Amino acid sequence: MNVLVTGGLGYIGSHTCVQMIEAGITTVIIDNLSNSNPEVLNRIESITGIRPRFFEGDIRSERFLDSVFSQIRIHSVIHFAGLKAVGESVAKPIEYYDNNVNGTLVLLRAMRKSGLKSIIFSSSATVYGDPETVPITESSPTGNTTNPYGTSKWMVERCLQDLLASDPAWSITLLRYFNPVGAHTSGLMGEDPKGIPNNLMPFITQVAVGRREKLSVFGDDYPTPDGTGVRDYIHVMDLADGHIAALREVSKREGLHVFNLGTGKGTSVLEMLSAFSESCGHPVPYQICPRRPGDIAECWASTAKAEKELNWKATRNVADMTRDSWRWQSENPDGYEKK
Ligand code: NAD
Ligand code: WQD
Repeated sequence: MNVLVTGGLGYIGSHTCVQMIEAGITTVIIDNLSNSNPEVLNRIESITGIRPRFFEGDIRSERFLDSVFSQIRIHSVIHFAGLKAVGESVAKPIEYYDNNVNGTLVLLRAMRKSGLKSIIFSSSATVYGDPETVPITESSPTGNTTNPYGTSKWMVERCLQDLLASDPAWSITLLRYFNPVGAHTSGLMGEDPKGIPNNLMPFITQVAVGRREKLSVFGDDYPTPDGTGVRDYIHVMDLADGHIAALREVSKREGLHVFNLGTGKGTSVLEMLSAFSESCGHPVPYQICPRRPGDIAECWASTAKAEKELNWKATRNVADMTRDSWRWQSENPDGYEKK
């Protein structure tokens, strides 16, 4: 099976490519390097012994995509490429809708032209907005998004559903990720955000390694056991395995397939900090700060549907996540940049 991975040099894409290659799937990568480093390709090769074919280019260029599809017969596409920073999306909505929504439409047009009708899309728990109840199931209401990033994910989900209504031969899989963290156990690959990290785990790792002074904990007055926000953190390798399960179980089947990819367990900011300190062997300095606008108190997934229909379930715990994140950051203090 030949699978095209858009955004395959990014954080989640790179870990998924490693697991795909190790599962014997021929992996072809497209990335415009807007948020990734070409060094990732060397790391994938070091881990797997195979260097996947890589096409540098932008999914918004139909001519570029046509050329890739004319060179290799692809059976399915996993579509990670897009912009993902919530705060930046508020400042740059045009760029976010262009990359995420328009980019997906160009990709779908090129796929249709080449007769390829199977796509797995990287969606997000953000499409659920502020959930009325937890755990969140796949049939919980969506669309009440609070920022252009989240709205762009929801809009792509709608575009894909309308496409399927127009042509039932498509296989459309929406994977709604909860909070991906962790790194490859080799220490060779991990999350390497450009600039100041927006997310909790890369911020903690950069404080622990001495790149930043302290973590700001955004609010300790939420209606949660310790007052800090609770999320469903999932190890990126479990997430990667979830894509392989989707490729195997549903990507050849026509219709719409929607799954939450989470662990079903909530962890607070202070619990994550304490687990991380255990892993790195020293306390991580922090300060309680006001709530971050737009944050919700708590959110975790119901994992029942993925377990039943994908035969997949997360197996790595919070200690695995903090240990692997720390190994990656301590062995690569400047990420993929060569100093
Ligand atoms: P990432 O930024 O590390 O990876 C995205 C990759 O896509 C990058 O390598 C980037 O260079 C590439 N890219 C961006 N725009 C492109 C374009 N127009 N053409 C070609 N390549 C392009 O992000 P990630 O964390 O790996 O996330 C992957 C996907 O999963 C994204 O769609 C994101 O919205 C979604 N997602 C991420 C999270 C998370 O917390 N990381 C949670 C839910 C969903
Ligand atoms: C987690 C918890 C913060 C940073 C975002 C997107 C979501 C998805 C995943 C893509 C919260 C707290 C954080 C910090 C902190 N991405 N925190 N100090 O907000 O759940 O989800 O990333 O789809 O769409 O919204 O993740 O890692 O930013 O925050 O106290 O410096 O950590 O308040 O409780 P979030 P996060």
